[in-house]
Amino acid sequence: MGRAILTAARNALRGFVALPGDKSISQRRALMSLFVSDDVTLTNYGTGEDCLTALACVQQLGKTVARSGSIVQISGEAGCKSGELNCGNSGTCSRLLMGILAGHEGEWQLTGDESLSRRPMKRVAKPLRKMGARIDLQDGHLPAHIRGGSLQGIIYHAQVISAQVKTAVLLAGLRASGSTFYFENSMSRNHTEHILNLAPRSNGWIALDPTKVELTGKTLSALIPSDPSSAAFWIAAALMVPDSELEFPGLLSNPLRNSYFDLLRGRGAMIAIQNRTHLNGEHVIHCRISYSPIGAFSVAFPETIKLIDEIPAFAILATAANGRSVFLDASELRVKESDRLKCMTEGLVRMGAEVEVWSDNFAVTGPVELQGAEIETAHDHRIAMAFAIAGLAATSKTIIQDAECVAVSYPDFWKDLERLAPGCIELEP
Ligand code: S3P
Repeated sequence: MGRAILTAARNALRGFVALPGDKSISQRRALMSLFVSDDVTLTNYGTGEDCLTALACVQQLGKTVARSGSIVQISGEAGCKSGELNCGNSGTCSRLLMGILAGHEGEWQLTGDESLSRRPMKRVAKPLRKMGARIDLQDGHLPAHIRGGSLQGIIYHAQVISAQVKTAVLLAGLRASGSTFYFENSMSRNHTEHILNLAPRSNGWIALDPTKVELTGKTLSALIPSDPSSAAFWIAAALMVPDSELEFPGLLSNPLRNSYFDLLRGRGAMIAIQNRTHLNGEHVIHCRISYSPIGAFSVAFPETIKLIDEIPAFAILATAANGRSVFLDASELRVKESDRLKCMTEGLVRMGAEVEVWSDNFAVTGPVELQGAEIETAHDHRIAMAFAIAGLAATSKTIIQDAECVAVSYPDFWKDLERLAPGCIELEP
């Protein structure tokens, strides 16, 4: 697959969307199976390449992995003591593995693709080294050389708010002597704490005593809720194409992941939430979103952290919102799979949007009629999907380069788009 060519949606988008299992939870549960020897069964496991990369690493480390679509069974011992593990495009996989392998006897090399090899890794190596980990990076980047050994717990006040760093430290803490204490000025996503059954103390510190954590095949086995970061693209589409109405069954509901419901509702979006249930440490909902004109919105720290993966979709949505939407304190956007702040603002300008950029902030003023353009995605899945949605609202053809990159998180994205907006997409071979 090369380019995707989009034309404006002629009709409303209507129907159910079955989204992939949440990428963060899928990868955490698969990688944490390295700590147990009894069977782990994961249902609605994410089908994106990042999630499959985590499974491939687990298998290479000695576990037996059987997968049938989105059902995964992991069994056996992680007996492999050395080798090169390719983490592909996945920041979560590489950073979590650093924390896990640092405390396991053996010697490994972690590598990644071009994008992952550009992403900062010192933020993870630094606290892990304080715990006694032996990790060598190349100028702060992958490849990482890890010699596993004994670790000690630490008291760590995070300098970068990152769930990947926090998880790496907590997973290293599972193998350390003594307890680990972790503090963030504002909380990043907390799926690891939910899996390990750790509640933050009233002063915000997370305390992990490795002798008190119950981690077994049973506690790791789960039905994984659908990914709210994948839902964000369709939520933007439903709010941009008149008369649309989309429903998301089995969607993850976590205040650190979909606080965007409150943000959008506050600006006029019609969002109905039903059937809230608690399942395997997380809440799951059925969500329906109906087209409604919305007012401009602002995102600033700490919301920017909670919405970091959804900003590409919401930057596109801002072109349809009435007024000047601002996205502040978005420096972390620059170190994702691409420099997303640059890719988004450049693509939006190409499509005729009114955009201002200053340091790590940007603003988009709407409503504006988007014109089609050719979009460089930098092989970044979320950039490709965000501009595909923009293409549904543009007056002329939008061309998305590297269309295959959506498979990193959402392999059926183009299929779903063809189903929801028939005739609007043509995929070049
Ligand atoms: C993730 C955490 C976030 C997010 C990423 C997945 C995770 O990154 O952007 O897509 O699974 O922990 P940070 O670790 O930088 O917060």
